[in-house]
Amino acid sequence: MIKKQIAYDYNNVLDKNLKSQICMEHEEVQSYTEKTKQVHNILTSLRREKKLPFYDLPYSKDAQEVKKLGTSIKAAMGEDLQNLLVIGIGGSSLGGIALTQALCHPFYNLLPGSMRKGPRLFFAENIDPDEIKGLFDVLDPEKTLINIISKSGSTAEPMANFLIFQNYMIDRIGSDRFKQQVVATTDPAKGTMREIANELGIKTLKVPMGVGGRFSVLSHVGLFPAYMVGIDIDTLLEGAALMDKVCTQNELLKNPAYLNAVIHYHLHTKKAVNMAVLMPYSTALAEISVWYRQLLAESLGKTYALSGEVVYAGQTPIKAVGAIDQHSQIQLYREGPFDKVITVLRVKKFNNSLTIPPLYKKHEGVSYLGGHTLNELIEAEEKATVHALVKSGRPVIEITLPEINPHTIGQLFYFYEVQTVFAGYLYNVNSLDQPGVEAGKQYTYSMLGRKGFEKLWKDEAGTAKRDTQYIIP
Ligand code: PA5
Repeated sequence: MIKKQIAYDYNNVLDKNLKSQICMEHEEVQSYTEKTKQVHNILTSLRREKKLPFYDLPYSKDAQEVKKLGTSIKAAMGEDLQNLLVIGIGGSSLGGIALTQALCHPFYNLLPGSMRKGPRLFFAENIDPDEIKGLFDVLDPEKTLINIISKSGSTAEPMANFLIFQNYMIDRIGSDRFKQQVVATTDPAKGTMREIANELGIKTLKVPMGVGGRFSVLSHVGLFPAYMVGIDIDTLLEGAALMDKVCTQNELLKNPAYLNAVIHYHLHTKKAVNMAVLMPYSTALAEISVWYRQLLAESLGKTYALSGEVVYAGQTPIKAVGAIDQHSQIQLYREGPFDKVITVLRVKKFNNSLTIPPLYKKHEGVSYLGGHTLNELIEAEEKATVHALVKSGRPVIEITLPEINPHTIGQLFYFYEVQTVFAGYLYNVNSLDQPGVEAGKQYTYSMLGRKGFEKLWKDEAGTAKRDTQYIIP
Protein backbone atom coordinates (compact mmCIF):
# COMPACT_ATOMS: atom_id res chain seq x y z
CA MET A 1 0.00 0.00 0.00
CA ILE A 2 1.35 3.44 -0.94
CA LYS A 3 1.05 5.75 2.06
CA LYS A 4 1.99 8.99 0.34
CA GLN A 5 0.39 12.39 0.66
CA ILE A 6 -2.22 13.29 -1.95
CA ALA A 7 -1.02 16.08 -4.28
CA TYR A 8 -2.90 19.34 -4.78
CA ASP A 9 -2.18 21.19 -8.05
CA TYR A 10 -3.72 24.61 -8.79
CA ASN A 11 -1.57 25.60 -11.77
CA ASN A 12 -4.61 25.64 -14.02
CA VAL A 13 -6.37 28.26 -11.94
CA LEU A 14 -3.56 30.79 -12.26
CA ASP A 15 -3.25 33.36 -15.03
CA LYS A 16 0.09 32.03 -16.25
CA ASN A 17 -1.70 28.88 -17.49
CA LEU A 18 -5.31 29.96 -17.73
CA LYS A 19 -6.11 32.76 -20.17
CA SER A 20 -9.57 33.60 -18.98
CA GLN A 21 -11.74 36.16 -17.25
CA ILE A 22 -12.08 33.71 -14.37
CA CYS A 23 -8.41 32.98 -13.68
CA MET A 24 -6.59 34.09 -10.53
CA GLU A 25 -3.29 35.90 -10.26
CA HIS A 26 -0.85 34.48 -7.76
CA GLU A 27 -0.93 37.84 -5.96
CA GLU A 28 -4.68 37.42 -5.53
CA VAL A 29 -4.08 34.08 -3.83
CA GLN A 30 -1.43 35.64 -1.61
CA SER A 31 -3.71 38.52 -0.70
CA TYR A 32 -5.49 36.03 1.60
CA THR A 33 -2.36 35.43 3.70
CA GLU A 34 -3.43 37.63 6.62
CA LYS A 35 -7.04 36.45 6.53
CA THR A 36 -5.75 32.87 6.52
CA LYS A 37 -3.75 33.50 9.67
CA GLN A 38 -6.79 35.02 11.39
CA VAL A 39 -9.07 32.12 10.45
CA HIS A 40 -6.35 29.65 11.33
CA ASN A 41 -6.10 31.17 14.80
CA ILE A 42 -9.87 30.97 15.28
CA LEU A 43 -9.93 27.32 14.20
CA THR A 44 -6.95 26.46 16.40
CA SER A 45 -8.59 28.05 19.45
CA LEU A 46 -11.92 26.35 18.78
CA ARG A 47 -10.15 23.04 18.40
CA ARG A 48 -8.25 23.58 21.64
CA GLU A 49 -11.55 24.39 23.40
CA LYS A 50 -13.00 21.10 21.97
CA LYS A 51 -15.57 23.03 19.95
CA LEU A 52 -14.56 21.39 16.67
CA PRO A 53 -14.19 17.77 17.73
CA PHE A 54 -14.17 16.37 14.19
CA TYR A 55 -10.51 17.52 14.02
CA ASP A 56 -9.53 14.97 16.66
CA LEU A 57 -11.40 11.93 15.34
CA PRO A 58 -8.21 10.35 13.90
CA TYR A 59 -6.92 10.04 17.48
CA SER A 60 -10.11 8.96 19.27
CA LYS A 61 -10.95 5.54 20.70
CA ASP A 62 -13.66 5.10 18.07
CA ALA A 63 -11.73 2.60 15.95
CA GLN A 64 -10.94 0.43 18.97
CA GLU A 65 -14.57 0.51 20.11
CA VAL A 66 -15.84 -0.34 16.65
CA LYS A 67 -13.45 -3.27 16.35
CA LYS A 68 -14.44 -4.58 19.77
CA LEU A 69 -18.16 -4.45 19.02
CA GLY A 70 -17.74 -5.68 15.44
CA THR A 71 -15.66 -8.66 16.53
CA SER A 72 -18.18 -9.67 19.18
CA ILE A 73 -21.07 -9.43 16.71
CA LYS A 74 -19.15 -11.49 14.14
CA ALA A 75 -18.50 -14.13 16.79
CA ALA A 76 -22.10 -14.14 18.03
CA MET A 77 -23.77 -14.26 14.60
CA GLY A 78 -21.16 -16.45 12.92
CA GLU A 79 -22.35 -17.82 9.56
CA ASP A 80 -25.64 -16.01 10.04
CA LEU A 81 -24.01 -12.65 9.46
CA GLN A 82 -24.74 -12.47 5.74
CA ASN A 83 -26.08 -8.91 5.40
CA LEU A 84 -25.52 -5.55 7.02
CA LEU A 85 -28.32 -3.05 6.46
CA VAL A 86 -27.37 0.52 7.36
CA ILE A 87 -30.37 2.78 7.86
CA GLY A 88 -29.61 6.51 7.84
CA ILE A 89 -29.78 9.62 5.70
CA GLY A 90 -27.60 12.63 4.87
CA GLY A 91 -24.59 12.87 7.11
CA SER A 92 -25.53 9.56 8.71
CA SER A 93 -25.19 7.60 5.48
CA LEU A 94 -23.25 9.49 2.81
CA GLY A 95 -19.86 9.09 4.50
CA GLY A 96 -20.32 5.34 4.95
CA ILE A 97 -21.44 4.96 1.36
CA ALA A 98 -18.49 6.97 0.01
CA LEU A 99 -16.02 5.12 2.19
CA THR A 100 -17.21 1.64 1.34
CA GLN A 101 -17.66 2.33 -2.36
CA ALA A 102 -14.11 3.65 -2.50
CA LEU A 103 -12.54 0.74 -0.67
CA CYS A 104 -14.62 -2.37 -1.39
CA HIS A 105 -14.58 -4.50 -4.50
CA PRO A 106 -16.69 -2.72 -7.18
CA PHE A 107 -19.21 -5.57 -7.14
CA TYR A 108 -18.75 -6.44 -3.49
CA ASN A 109 -22.31 -7.63 -2.83
CA LEU A 110 -22.25 -9.93 -5.83
CA LEU A 111 -19.07 -11.72 -4.79
CA PRO A 112 -19.41 -15.21 -3.35
CA GLY A 113 -19.14 -15.26 0.45
CA SER A 114 -15.65 -16.78 0.34
CA MET A 115 -14.35 -13.74 -1.56
CA ARG A 116 -16.00 -11.14 0.64
CA LYS A 117 -14.38 -9.84 3.81
CA GLY A 118 -17.71 -9.45 5.57
CA PRO A 119 -21.48 -9.41 5.10
CA ARG A 120 -23.12 -7.95 2.02
CA LEU A 121 -23.76 -4.25 2.59
CA PHE A 122 -26.97 -2.32 1.93
CA PHE A 123 -27.95 1.25 2.72
CA ALA A 124 -31.59 2.22 3.24
CA GLU A 125 -31.61 5.98 2.80
CA ASN A 126 -34.73 6.90 0.94
CA ILE A 127 -38.32 6.34 1.98
CA ASP A 128 -39.27 5.00 -1.39
CA PRO A 129 -41.77 2.22 -0.62
CA ASP A 130 -40.73 0.21 -3.68
CA GLU A 131 -37.07 0.28 -2.68
CA ILE A 132 -37.68 -0.55 0.96
CA LYS A 133 -40.15 -3.33 0.16
CA GLY A 134 -37.59 -4.59 -2.35
CA LEU A 135 -35.10 -5.05 0.47
CA PHE A 136 -37.45 -7.62 2.05
CA ASP A 137 -36.85 -9.79 -1.02
CA VAL A 138 -33.07 -9.81 -0.63
CA LEU A 139 -32.52 -9.65 3.14
CA ASP A 140 -33.21 -12.77 5.15
CA PRO A 141 -34.14 -11.50 8.65
CA GLU A 142 -32.25 -14.36 10.29
CA LYS A 143 -29.07 -13.36 8.49
CA THR A 144 -29.25 -9.57 8.70
CA LEU A 145 -27.64 -7.13 11.08
CA ILE A 146 -29.19 -3.67 11.21
CA ASN A 147 -27.24 -0.52 11.93
CA ILE A 148 -29.65 2.36 12.48
CA ILE A 149 -27.75 5.66 12.42
CA SER A 150 -29.51 8.80 13.54
CA LYS A 151 -27.97 11.40 15.77
CA SER A 152 -31.31 12.92 16.69
CA GLY A 153 -33.54 9.90 16.31
CA SER A 154 -36.26 12.23 15.09
CA THR A 155 -35.43 12.32 11.39
CA ALA A 156 -38.50 10.97 9.63
CA GLU A 157 -36.78 8.91 6.93
CA PRO A 158 -34.42 6.69 8.94
CA MET A 159 -36.87 6.35 11.80
CA ALA A 160 -39.72 5.29 9.48
CA ASN A 161 -37.44 2.74 7.82
CA PHE A 162 -36.23 1.51 11.20
CA LEU A 163 -39.78 1.03 12.49
CA ILE A 164 -40.66 -0.90 9.33
CA PHE A 165 -37.63 -3.17 9.66
CA GLN A 166 -38.16 -3.64 13.37
CA ASN A 167 -41.69 -4.97 12.72
CA TYR A 168 -40.61 -7.05 9.76
CA MET A 169 -37.77 -8.68 11.68
CA ILE A 170 -39.70 -9.24 14.92
CA ASP A 171 -42.53 -10.91 13.00
CA ARG A 172 -40.08 -13.38 11.56
CA ILE A 173 -37.36 -13.93 14.17
CA GLY A 174 -38.94 -12.68 17.38
CA SER A 175 -38.10 -9.78 19.60
CA ASP A 176 -35.13 -11.26 21.48
CA ARG A 177 -33.26 -12.21 18.37
CA PHE A 178 -34.09 -8.90 16.69
CA LYS A 179 -32.51 -7.06 19.60
CA GLN A 180 -29.33 -9.11 19.17
CA GLN A 181 -29.19 -8.07 15.53
CA VAL A 182 -29.41 -4.29 15.87
CA VAL A 183 -26.79 -1.66 16.54
CA ALA A 184 -27.94 1.94 17.02
CA THR A 185 -25.45 4.72 16.30
CA THR A 186 -26.80 7.85 17.92
CA ASP A 187 -26.19 10.75 20.27
CA PRO A 188 -24.24 9.49 23.31
CA ALA A 189 -26.64 10.99 25.86
CA LYS A 190 -29.89 12.35 24.48
CA GLY A 191 -32.48 12.17 21.70
CA THR A 192 -35.26 9.82 20.66
CA MET A 193 -32.99 7.10 19.24
CA ARG A 194 -30.95 6.99 22.45
CA GLU A 195 -34.17 6.60 24.44
CA ILE A 196 -35.46 3.84 22.15
CA ALA A 197 -32.10 2.06 22.30
CA ASN A 198 -32.19 2.17 26.08
CA GLU A 199 -35.77 0.86 26.12
CA LEU A 200 -34.88 -1.99 23.76
CA GLY A 201 -31.59 -2.70 25.50
CA ILE A 202 -29.72 -2.94 22.19
CA LYS A 203 -26.05 -2.38 21.40
CA THR A 204 -25.14 1.22 20.71
CA LEU A 205 -22.39 3.30 19.17
CA LYS A 206 -22.17 7.07 19.25
CA VAL A 207 -22.21 10.07 16.99
CA PRO A 208 -19.68 12.10 19.01
CA MET A 209 -20.91 15.21 20.80
CA GLY A 210 -20.40 18.30 18.69
CA VAL A 211 -19.80 16.37 15.46
CA GLY A 212 -22.51 16.99 12.87
CA GLY A 213 -23.52 14.20 10.50
CA ARG A 214 -21.54 15.50 7.55
CA PHE A 215 -18.34 15.64 9.61
CA SER A 216 -18.85 12.21 11.15
CA VAL A 217 -17.46 9.77 8.59
CA LEU A 218 -14.32 9.13 10.66
CA SER A 219 -16.32 8.38 13.82
CA HIS A 220 -18.38 5.28 14.71
CA VAL A 221 -20.82 6.45 11.99
CA GLY A 222 -18.55 5.56 9.05
CA LEU A 223 -16.09 3.27 10.83
CA PHE A 224 -18.57 0.59 11.88
CA PRO A 225 -19.93 -0.29 8.42
CA ALA A 226 -16.39 0.02 7.03
CA TYR A 227 -14.93 -2.34 9.62
CA MET A 228 -17.72 -4.87 9.13
CA VAL A 229 -16.91 -5.17 5.42
CA GLY A 230 -13.21 -5.59 6.07
CA ILE A 231 -11.81 -2.10 5.55
CA ASP A 232 -8.59 -1.29 7.41
CA ILE A 233 -9.95 1.53 9.58
CA ASP A 234 -6.64 2.09 11.41
CA THR A 235 -4.92 2.99 8.15
CA LEU A 236 -7.88 5.16 7.18
CA LEU A 237 -7.37 7.18 10.37
CA GLU A 238 -3.62 7.21 9.86
CA GLY A 239 -4.25 8.90 6.50
CA ALA A 240 -6.58 11.41 8.15
CA ALA A 241 -3.93 12.13 10.80
CA LEU A 242 -1.38 12.84 8.07
CA MET A 243 -3.80 15.36 6.53
CA ASP A 244 -4.29 16.89 9.96
CA LYS A 245 -0.58 17.78 9.98
CA VAL A 246 -0.73 19.14 6.43
CA CYS A 247 -4.02 21.03 6.75
CA THR A 248 -3.36 22.73 10.06
CA GLN A 249 -0.33 24.68 8.90
CA ASN A 250 -1.02 28.37 9.09
CA GLU A 251 0.90 29.17 5.92
CA LEU A 252 -1.61 29.47 3.12
CA LEU A 253 0.73 28.33 0.36
CA LYS A 254 1.61 25.13 2.19
CA ASN A 255 -1.90 24.21 3.22
CA PRO A 256 -4.00 22.61 0.43
CA ALA A 257 -7.27 22.76 2.41
CA TYR A 258 -6.90 26.50 3.04
CA LEU A 259 -5.79 27.08 -0.57
CA ASN A 260 -8.74 25.17 -1.94
CA ALA A 261 -11.12 27.20 0.23
CA VAL A 262 -9.49 30.48 -0.83
CA ILE A 263 -9.58 29.63 -4.54
CA HIS A 264 -13.22 28.53 -4.44
CA TYR A 265 -14.24 31.51 -2.30
CA HIS A 266 -12.41 34.04 -4.47
CA LEU A 267 -13.70 32.65 -7.77
CA HIS A 268 -17.21 32.56 -6.34
CA THR A 269 -17.41 35.94 -4.68
CA LYS A 270 -15.21 37.98 -7.04
CA LYS A 271 -15.78 36.28 -10.40
CA ALA A 272 -19.30 34.84 -10.06
CA VAL A 273 -18.07 31.26 -10.40
CA ASN A 274 -21.17 29.89 -8.75
CA MET A 275 -20.54 26.17 -9.15
CA ALA A 276 -17.93 23.77 -7.88
CA VAL A 277 -17.64 20.49 -9.76
CA LEU A 278 -15.94 17.47 -8.25
CA MET A 279 -15.02 15.01 -11.00
CA PRO A 280 -13.14 11.89 -9.97
CA TYR A 281 -11.71 9.82 -12.79
CA SER A 282 -12.63 6.64 -10.96
CA THR A 283 -15.91 4.82 -10.32
CA ALA A 284 -14.76 3.94 -6.81
CA LEU A 285 -14.55 7.65 -5.97
CA ALA A 286 -17.93 8.60 -7.46
CA GLU A 287 -19.71 8.59 -4.11
CA ILE A 288 -17.03 10.87 -2.65
CA SER A 289 -18.54 13.52 -4.94
CA VAL A 290 -21.96 12.89 -3.40
CA TRP A 291 -20.54 13.13 0.12
CA TYR A 292 -18.70 16.35 -0.86
CA ARG A 293 -21.89 17.76 -2.37
CA GLN A 294 -23.65 17.49 0.99
CA LEU A 295 -20.64 18.78 2.92
CA LEU A 296 -20.38 21.90 0.79
CA ALA A 297 -24.10 22.50 0.32
CA GLU A 298 -25.23 22.10 3.93
CA SER A 299 -22.19 23.80 5.43
CA LEU A 300 -21.85 26.87 3.24
CA GLY A 301 -25.29 27.38 1.69
CA LYS A 302 -26.61 29.95 4.13
CA THR A 303 -28.96 32.94 4.09
CA TYR A 304 -27.40 34.66 7.08
CA ALA A 305 -23.83 35.56 7.94
CA LEU A 306 -22.63 35.17 11.52
CA SER A 307 -23.19 38.92 11.79
CA GLY A 308 -26.89 38.46 10.99
CA GLU A 309 -26.56 40.09 7.58
CA VAL A 310 -28.40 38.43 4.66
CA VAL A 311 -25.70 36.98 2.37
CA TYR A 312 -27.17 34.00 0.47
CA ALA A 313 -23.77 32.32 0.56
CA GLY A 314 -22.57 29.14 -1.08
CA GLN A 315 -21.40 27.67 -4.34
CA THR A 316 -23.48 24.90 -5.88
CA PRO A 317 -21.56 21.63 -5.70
CA ILE A 318 -21.86 19.32 -8.67
CA LYS A 319 -21.09 15.64 -9.03
CA ALA A 320 -19.42 14.45 -12.19
CA VAL A 321 -17.53 11.25 -12.96
CA GLY A 322 -14.74 10.82 -15.48
CA ALA A 323 -14.66 9.49 -18.10
CA ILE A 324 -18.47 9.03 -18.14
CA ASP A 325 -19.32 12.73 -17.97
CA GLN A 326 -17.06 13.53 -20.91
CA HIS A 327 -20.04 12.28 -22.87
CA SER A 328 -22.47 14.38 -20.90
CA GLN A 329 -21.65 17.43 -18.81
CA ILE A 330 -18.26 18.33 -20.33
CA GLN A 331 -19.93 19.97 -23.32
CA LEU A 332 -21.51 22.46 -20.91
CA TYR A 333 -18.35 22.87 -18.84
CA ARG A 334 -16.28 23.76 -21.94
CA GLU A 335 -18.74 25.89 -23.86
CA GLY A 336 -21.37 27.05 -21.41
CA PRO A 337 -21.22 29.97 -18.97
CA PHE A 338 -17.99 30.80 -17.12
CA ASP A 339 -19.49 29.83 -13.80
CA LYS A 340 -17.69 26.62 -12.77
CA VAL A 341 -14.45 25.59 -11.16
CA ILE A 342 -13.71 21.94 -11.78
CA THR A 343 -11.73 19.70 -9.46
CA VAL A 344 -10.45 16.52 -11.03
CA LEU A 345 -9.52 13.63 -8.74
CA ARG A 346 -6.81 11.56 -10.44
CA VAL A 347 -5.63 8.13 -9.42
CA LYS A 348 -1.96 7.65 -10.16
CA LYS A 349 -1.89 3.87 -9.78
CA PHE A 350 -5.09 1.87 -10.02
CA ASN A 351 -5.23 -1.41 -8.14
CA ASN A 352 -5.55 -3.33 -11.40
CA SER A 353 -4.21 -3.05 -14.92
CA LEU A 354 -5.96 -4.34 -18.03
CA THR A 355 -4.51 -4.44 -21.52
CA ILE A 356 -6.75 -3.80 -24.49
CA PRO A 357 -6.23 -6.59 -27.03
CA PRO A 358 -4.88 -5.56 -30.48
CA LEU A 359 -7.89 -6.70 -32.51
CA TYR A 360 -9.44 -5.35 -35.73
CA LYS A 361 -6.15 -3.99 -37.04
CA LYS A 362 -7.74 -2.84 -40.29
CA HIS A 363 -10.25 -0.63 -38.50
CA GLU A 364 -8.50 2.61 -37.65
CA GLY A 365 -11.40 3.55 -35.38
CA VAL A 366 -10.34 0.92 -32.83
CA SER A 367 -6.90 -0.38 -33.84
CA TYR A 368 -5.07 2.47 -32.08
CA LEU A 369 -6.43 1.18 -28.75
CA GLY A 370 -4.78 -2.23 -29.04
CA GLY A 371 -1.81 -2.82 -26.74
CA HIS A 372 -2.64 0.12 -24.48
CA THR A 373 -3.97 -0.46 -21.01
CA LEU A 374 -7.29 0.88 -19.70
CA ASN A 375 -5.08 2.68 -17.19
CA GLU A 376 -3.33 4.54 -20.01
CA LEU A 377 -6.65 5.30 -21.65
CA ILE A 378 -8.30 6.77 -18.55
CA GLU A 379 -5.15 8.80 -17.80
CA ALA A 380 -5.01 10.09 -21.36
CA GLU A 381 -8.70 11.03 -21.26
CA GLU A 382 -8.28 12.82 -17.96
CA LYS A 383 -5.26 14.80 -19.19
CA ALA A 384 -6.98 15.55 -22.49
CA THR A 385 -10.10 16.82 -20.73
CA VAL A 386 -8.13 19.01 -18.36
CA HIS A 387 -6.21 20.46 -21.30
CA ALA A 388 -9.40 21.07 -23.28
CA LEU A 389 -11.06 22.76 -20.31
CA VAL A 390 -8.06 24.98 -19.67
CA LYS A 391 -7.83 25.89 -23.35
CA SER A 392 -11.45 27.02 -23.10
CA GLY A 393 -10.58 29.21 -20.12
CA ARG A 394 -12.09 27.01 -17.40
CA PRO A 395 -10.25 26.76 -14.06
CA VAL A 396 -9.24 23.23 -13.10
CA ILE A 397 -7.73 21.95 -9.86
CA GLU A 398 -6.12 18.51 -9.90
CA ILE A 399 -5.88 16.32 -6.84
CA THR A 400 -3.82 13.18 -7.32
CA LEU A 401 -4.23 10.11 -5.14
CA PRO A 402 -1.12 7.93 -5.40
CA GLU A 403 -3.50 4.97 -5.07
CA ILE A 404 -7.04 4.35 -3.84
CA ASN A 405 -6.45 2.82 -0.42
CA PRO A 406 -7.59 3.49 3.17
CA HIS A 407 -4.70 5.90 3.72
CA THR A 408 -5.50 8.18 0.77
CA ILE A 409 -9.26 8.03 1.36
CA GLY A 410 -8.73 9.04 5.00
CA GLN A 411 -6.67 11.98 3.75
CA LEU A 412 -9.34 13.05 1.28
CA PHE A 413 -12.17 13.12 3.84
CA TYR A 414 -10.09 15.10 6.30
CA PHE A 415 -8.86 17.54 3.64
CA TYR A 416 -12.41 18.41 2.57
CA GLU A 417 -13.69 18.75 6.13
CA VAL A 418 -10.95 21.25 7.03
CA GLN A 419 -11.49 23.13 3.78
CA THR A 420 -15.18 23.45 4.60
CA VAL A 421 -14.87 24.87 8.11
CA PHE A 422 -12.14 27.22 6.88
CA ALA A 423 -14.37 28.38 4.02
CA GLY A 424 -17.15 28.97 6.56
CA TYR A 425 -15.04 31.73 8.07
CA LEU A 426 -14.23 33.24 4.67
CA TYR A 427 -17.97 33.50 3.99
CA ASN A 428 -18.52 34.36 7.66
CA VAL A 429 -21.27 31.77 7.98
CA ASN A 430 -21.88 28.98 10.46
CA SER A 431 -20.65 25.90 8.61
CA LEU A 432 -21.88 23.55 11.33
CA ASP A 433 -25.64 24.14 11.29
CA GLN A 434 -28.31 23.40 8.66
CA PRO A 435 -31.40 25.51 9.35
CA GLY A 436 -32.64 25.01 5.78
CA VAL A 437 -32.78 21.26 6.32
CA GLU A 438 -34.55 21.65 9.64
CA ALA A 439 -37.33 23.70 8.08
CA GLY A 440 -38.23 20.91 5.65
CA LYS A 441 -38.19 18.38 8.48
CA GLN A 442 -40.62 20.51 10.49
CA TYR A 443 -43.12 20.91 7.63
CA THR A 444 -43.12 17.12 7.27
CA TYR A 445 -43.78 16.67 10.99
CA SER A 446 -46.64 19.11 10.68
CA MET A 447 -48.26 17.36 7.71
CA LEU A 448 -48.11 14.01 9.49
CA GLY A 449 -49.51 15.44 12.71
CA ARG A 450 -46.51 15.35 15.04
CA LYS A 451 -47.39 16.92 18.38
CA GLY A 452 -46.30 20.52 18.65
CA PHE A 453 -46.06 21.05 14.87
CA GLU A 454 -49.76 20.67 13.93
CA LYS A 455 -50.39 24.25 12.80
CA LEU A 456 -47.18 25.00 10.93
CA TRP A 457 -48.12 23.49 7.56
CA LYS A 458 -51.72 24.72 7.58
CA ASP A 459 -50.71 28.25 8.55
CA GLU A 460 -48.04 28.56 5.90
CA ALA A 461 -48.28 26.34 2.84
CA GLY A 462 -51.91 25.33 3.36
CA THR A 463 -52.98 28.80 2.27
CA ALA A 464 -51.09 28.74 -1.07
CA LYS A 465 -53.51 28.48 -3.99
CA ARG A 466 -52.95 26.16 -6.94
CA ASP A 467 -54.67 27.38 -10.07
CA THR A 468 -55.70 24.47 -12.29
CA GLN A 469 -54.93 26.50 -15.44
CA TYR A 470 -51.25 26.00 -14.64
CA ILE A 471 -51.58 22.23 -14.31
CA ILE A 472 -51.53 20.06 -17.44
CA PRO A 473 -53.58 18.03 -18.13
O1 PA5 B 1 -25.12 16.62 8.26
C1 PA5 B 1 -26.11 16.65 8.94
O2 PA5 B 1 -26.10 17.07 10.11
C2 PA5 B 1 -27.46 16.15 8.41
O3 PA5 B 1 -27.32 15.77 7.08
C3 PA5 B 1 -27.94 14.96 9.21
O4 PA5 B 1 -26.93 13.99 9.22
C4 PA5 B 1 -29.20 14.35 8.63
O5 PA5 B 1 -30.23 15.31 8.57
C5 PA5 B 1 -29.68 13.15 9.46
O6 PA5 B 1 -29.88 13.53 10.79
P1 PA5 B 1 -29.94 12.47 11.95
O7 PA5 B 1 -28.61 11.78 12.02
O8 PA5 B 1 -30.24 13.24 13.19
O9 PA5 B 1 -31.02 11.49 11.59
